[in-house]
Amino acid sequence: HKHILGTEQLSREDIELILDTADSLKEINSREIKKVPTLRGKTIVNLFYEASTRTRTSFEIAGKRLSADTINMTASTSSVTKGETLEDTAKNIQAMKPDIIVMRHSASGAPHYLAERIDCSVINAGDGAHEHPSQALLDLLTIRQHKGKLEGLTVAIVGDITHSRVARSDLYAMTKMGMKVRLCGPGTMMPPGIERLGAEVFTDMDDAVRDADVVMMLRIQLERQGKTLLPTLREYARLYGLNPARLALAKPDAIVMHPGPLNRGVEISSYVADGKQSVILDQVENGVAVRMALLYLVAGGEASES
Ligand code: CP
Repeated sequence: HKHILGTEQLSREDIELILDTADSLKEINSREIKKVPTLRGKTIVNLFYEASTRTRTSFEIAGKRLSADTINMTASTSSVTKGETLEDTAKNIQAMKPDIIVMRHSASGAPHYLAERIDCSVINAGDGAHEHPSQALLDLLTIRQHKGKLEGLTVAIVGDITHSRVARSDLYAMTKMGMKVRLCGPGTMMPPGIERLGAEVFTDMDDAVRDADVVMMLRIQLERQGKTLLPTLREYARLYGLNPARLALAKPDAIVMHPGPLNRGVEISSYVADGKQSVILDQVENGVAVRMALLYLVAGGEASES
């Protein structure tokens, strides 16, 4: 079976194929009759052990647009709350013969564990602080849509890099596409040695944002911090919040991105989040197209094994 476990395993050609497929499927989401029979008869289980608004909904919509049967399973309303293990849950879902499982889990590597034990395709919808490949792909699609290219662009990714699966997936994918990636955040939120993956590391946000084509803000993951938050939220907003003055340091036509959910007034001011350089809702719209492409390709298209 084909799996999408991370952008680390995808080649530049795989990424181009996924983005081109997403572009060609995008039209379906804007039609009056939003359905094609491509995945009729396929069953997709969305297995979410962590909260989600955008990813779960857009995978469900993507599956429905392609006529697949989509089923949502949320850990908090499943027998996981009675102590059922991931392996037992997987075996029981397997017995119902799904074709694709889309999985989000708080443990890094959980989708890989599942992929080794189950006889269907697995798509990682976010595993701990490890990877969130469909997010990185929709980010690339959004950048390509607005800039007409990826190669040579400079992106500043600012925030809690240590806990960000989005930053990791973006870093792998963007460097493969020839983009220059700047990672910025307080030292307490920057994983040591991350520059070995091809990023330039900044602790000063003004330096990171200066002349960037893309400014991507990340949420502080309060649910993944230890007991003390360093810096405090107030200091963080002052040092690493994107406001109009900071954005003015980037290129005049720079776009502002955020994977969501937003902490308004912490990492991004409402003025910027809702401003004319913001493409945050384009990211969400592109999420449906990218997830249609991933479902189509793992169900029989031509993406290489990952
Ligand atoms: N960007 C993202 O993954 O959002 P959700 O957590 O709401 O799915």
